Amino acid sequence: MKKIILFVTLFLSINVNAQKFEGLAKTPPMGWNSWNRFTCNVNEKLIREAAEAMVSSGMKDAGYIYINIDDCWQGKRDSLGFIHPDPTRFPSGMKALSDYIHSLGLKFGIYTDEGWMTCGGKPGSRGHEYQDAMTYAKWGVDYLKDDYCYTDYLNPEGAYLTMRNALYATGRPIVYSICMWGNGCEVWAKEVGHLWRTTGDIHPTFDATPTKGDESPLGVLQILDKQKDLRKYAGPDHWNDPDMLEVGNGMSVNEDRAHFSMWCMLAAPLIAGNDLFNMNKETSEILLNKEAIAVDQDTLGIEGFLYSSKGDVEIWAKPLSDGDWAICFLNRGTKQEEVNYSWKQNEIIDTLTHREMNFTIENYKIRDLWQHKEIGTTEKDFNALILSHDVVLLRLKLLR
Ligand code: GLA
Repeated sequence: MKKIILFVTLFLSINVNAQKFEGLAKTPPMGWNSWNRFTCNVNEKLIREAAEAMVSSGMKDAGYIYINIDDCWQGKRDSLGFIHPDPTRFPSGMKALSDYIHSLGLKFGIYTDEGWMTCGGKPGSRGHEYQDAMTYAKWGVDYLKDDYCYTDYLNPEGAYLTMRNALYATGRPIVYSICMWGNGCEVWAKEVGHLWRTTGDIHPTFDATPTKGDESPLGVLQILDKQKDLRKYAGPDHWNDPDMLEVGNGMSVNEDRAHFSMWCMLAAPLIAGNDLFNMNKETSEILLNKEAIAVDQDTLGIEGFLYSSKGDVEIWAKPLSDGDWAICFLNRGTKQEEVNYSWKQNEIIDTLTHREMNFTIENYKIRDLWQHKEIGTTEKDFNALILSHDVVLLRLKLLR
């Protein structure tokens, strides 16, 4: 009897005190994930090589630190229900892989699913949450992406809370990434995870929703258009996640640049999804643009907003620390656009955070974050030619 009381008290105390680990994602997480480029074709050689390339390519120095294995690493559960990696793909086991990733100064991420099966048909965590969390902690996992396939009639908030509590009970700080493709999770996700997907899966197209089997993944613009009402939910340690990056996976250079810039404007997690080992110069210049990354990683953690739109050109604004702002002119159209823009006639107000730029009484210095040079001040009108599916990304600094 005493034992039962002790067990119940212990169980209750774990759950009453359960929470998410605070402070693990003060700025949007940055890393790499296997899914977008390699889908189910993962193995320990690929992951080790990705980790090595993360260091040699300069990605690690630019802030990308998580090496995340997505779906299909799983083998079977043993007779006690513990999950093991696929022995053919990961013959050395997850602890050895995680130790190797850590030895390079990187962090290790893994994937599971709240249902009984993952989207790729591997064992899910349903009913095994505490057991799986313990296993991940033992392996040295630092980041968990948790999907939502095969969940039948589960209550999503309850399901993700169970895994959150299970992770917390291990005592190991693990970033928790919720993947239920939007569906209203932003309303409760802040207390549960550090980031949550806001849409279905991304596809490396700029402006189309191609059909892929029985799914319709989304292009960059389709995802962007679904973000507009979500910014109030995001901030330090709790981020909207418009899905992983497709930079380097087949779009044109301008499209990759626009995609990356917009994800920075959205304060999105920057999880690269390309082949790090075979990165060309254009791709690495985009992923390694430290000035664009600084917009994403700004410590205020305010997501940008659509300020105005005329024809195919949208203007997005994002307040930054020290009174700076990022401004992005996005050409959504298939033709190049000439922009003649008068700062003075356009006061920019962020109604959510009550920040504003009044150019009639303030003068800002302008830096072009792709040309990496100062291009004047807001005293003068701004003129630029923006190629189709491209951007001009600017940082404005108040001249005092
Ligand atoms: C879902 C997720 C993707 C990826 C796959 C893996 O579709 O949204 O990001 O993790 O599952 O099967």
